[in-house]
Amino acid sequence: MPIRSIEQANFKNKKALVRMDFNVELDNIAQVQEHFKLEVLKKTIDYILGFPGVKVAMLTHFGRPKGKNDPHYSVAKLVPAVEQAFARKVTFVSDCIGKDVVKALDALPSGELLLLENVRFYPEEEANDEEFAKSLAKPFDIYVNEAFGVDHRNHASVTTITKFLPAYAGLHVLEEIEKLDYIRLLPDHPAVAIIGGAKIETKLPLIQALEKNFDAILVGGKVANEAIDQKIVFSEKVLLPLDFDSPLRLDIGPNTIACFIQVIKIAKTIVWNGPLGKFEEKPYDMGTNAILHAILESQAFFVIGGGESLAVLEKTGVMDRIGFVSSGGGAMLEYLSGKKLPGIEALEA
Ligand code: 3PG
Repeated sequence: MPIRSIEQANFKNKKALVRMDFNVELDNIAQVQEHFKLEVLKKTIDYILGFPGVKVAMLTHFGRPKGKNDPHYSVAKLVPAVEQAFARKVTFVSDCIGKDVVKALDALPSGELLLLENVRFYPEEEANDEEFAKSLAKPFDIYVNEAFGVDHRNHASVTTITKFLPAYAGLHVLEEIEKLDYIRLLPDHPAVAIIGGAKIETKLPLIQALEKNFDAILVGGKVANEAIDQKIVFSEKVLLPLDFDSPLRLDIGPNTIACFIQVIKIAKTIVWNGPLGKFEEKPYDMGTNAILHAILESQAFFVIGGGESLAVLEKTGVMDRIGFVSSGGGAMLEYLSGKKLPGIEALEA
């Protein structure tokens, strides 16, 4: 079913609440790591602020503060990175509901933005509480979901809020759906998936779904170890590592690298989620780097997603050479597995 796009909405003189996913990694000196996740949302902000008289407040979760007001997870620390990504002044509001939000909206100069405090400071967010969703909606006339990474969560600010405000998808959410639908349903063949990272239980539904439309699924990283140890049986399309770097199995071995590269060379579509070894520690990044290099040399349309996979790209400085980078981790896995995402369903026309 089609979903409502912000291009169908009129923001003139409206107060708009834009649900973002600013859940970025910080380094040990609190510097934002995943700038890309913010930068891809700029086009939606520019689009909305193109309407006269519109006022925009951005709402996000940040980490998992377990429903408590924990300064460690305050989004105040994200303000400089958001200002840089959007090239606009951003004012932080120390709550996401109530009088503070109303006052800040009234005082907001044209062309500037508000950033509301972490919505997960309220336990009602993850409990999907209807009264809380109503409070979030109250100061606003219109709601935009530009938070693909959290659209697999049935949370108050993602789904139930759409009962109280006209709701539209942001431009990046629409692009995620378009690109991931192409990957999932109509990939150019040979279509190859590369699945790594950890937690076989979260990756298994994806591997099983990809077995239908894809020609090969190359599995590495911790998930390969887990699959081998649990003696999981796959179809012949799924290639587990032939060898490892060492008995500790922290990276794929040279024969596996050579075999995977042969498959990648002829691929027309490649989707990648999760590194193939303990890439954050040298020399266990060798397999991941060799595979990334082979993909970039190939002619394939290349889609990548997931927090760890994005970290690989930012580290190697090749973000601009990728066909499409999904900002979703769990959301991308679930969407490609064929599951309906509640945040997207709530936007259906
Ligand atoms: C992500 O980083 O994948 C999203 O922001 C979702 O975060 P969550 O897993 O804490 O819901």
